[in-house]
Amino acid sequence: MKDFKGRTAFVTGGASGLGLSMARAFGRAGMNVVLADIDMSAAKAAAEQLASEQIKAVPVHCDVSERGALREAALEAIAAFGKVHVVCNNAGVAVGGPIGTVRERDWDRIIDVNLKSVVYGTEVFVPLIKSHGEGGHFVNTASMAGMISPPGLEPYCATKYAVVAMSEGWHGQLAPINIGVSVLCPGFVRTRIHESGRARQDKYGGIGDVDPGVAATREQAAQSVLSGIDPDIVGNRVLEAVKNGELYIFTHPAMKAFAEMRFQAILAAFDTAAASPALASVKDHAPVTLLTPKP
Ligand SMILES: NC(=O)c1ccc[n+]([C@@H]2O[C@H](COP(=O)([O-])OP(=O)(O)OC[C@H]3O[C@@H](n4cnc5c(N)ncnc54)[C@H](O)[C@@H]3O)[C@@H](O)[C@H]2O)c1
Repeated sequence: MKDFKGRTAFVTGGASGLGLSMARAFGRAGMNVVLADIDMSAAKAAAEQLASEQIKAVPVHCDVSERGALREAALEAIAAFGKVHVVCNNAGVAVGGPIGTVRERDWDRIIDVNLKSVVYGTEVFVPLIKSHGEGGHFVNTASMAGMISPPGLEPYCATKYAVVAMSEGWHGQLAPINIGVSVLCPGFVRTRIHESGRARQDKYGGIGDVDPGVAATREQAAQSVLSGIDPDIVGNRVLEAVKNGELYIFTHPAMKAFAEMRFQAILAAFDTAAASPALASVKDHAPVTLLTPKP
């Protein structure tokens, strides 16, 4: 996407952190922005902050774990600005902990908020973007935790790997109709993700319900997040990447070594398979109908 002026970006989790930074970057490029967030008072404050920077911003209440709420928020965005061109499926929460300690409701919450929300946001907006015919772009927020899975972060990583997977597939599906897809994979960024219990919905126990995994690692998580990079750097990087139509958006180049370690282990495992006597009869077997991966 090259043309940003007068167009509209819809950002979930737009009241804080990465969402607000992307809204600011798109706003500075001349876009109207919709800040869709479960925390309406924070979204209003963020919209006022953007307005003071001459950015047209509208706050909209939305719990991304509900498909219907995303549909309603999309209609509000269209009522405000006519069309939506960029969608940042960004809202997310953090859940982790040793095996057996992550409660069912915490699994449900992270899958709904981090993973299914991206499905809802995409399915709601694809027809709307298609209908105006001006093209568009999705930015799905994953994480470096969508590339590597450190012990103790499995619920978070499972959702972020899924966001990477969906983005890779949709990138191929949507390119022919002039809709780009990027997947944002940052390392630590200075936001409030370590306090994501503040947005816990009643259906998962409410804000007073403390997730034991988060409680046990609170201090360490806070330290890591607060030593992260400035969110506005990420917003600017995202704008740059959307202009260039990049699929993968990394913000911490020094973390390449972690990805390399994982991919080398995977490639080595293929070599082990190729040398395996148990696989001697199937060595050359590859499904001919496999879709060509599109990097
Ligand atoms: N901060 C980091 O180090 C980091 C690194 C990689 C990826 N991320 C990802 O960035 C995204 C944004 O997080 P952040 O770091 O800016 O955290 P943040 O807590 O500062 O912002 C998250 C925003 O999402 C909103 N939100 C939470 N649940 C919601 C829901 N159900 N519906 C709508 N809005 C909801 C919150 O109210 C908040 O405004 C998340 O997907 C997170 O996983 C963060």
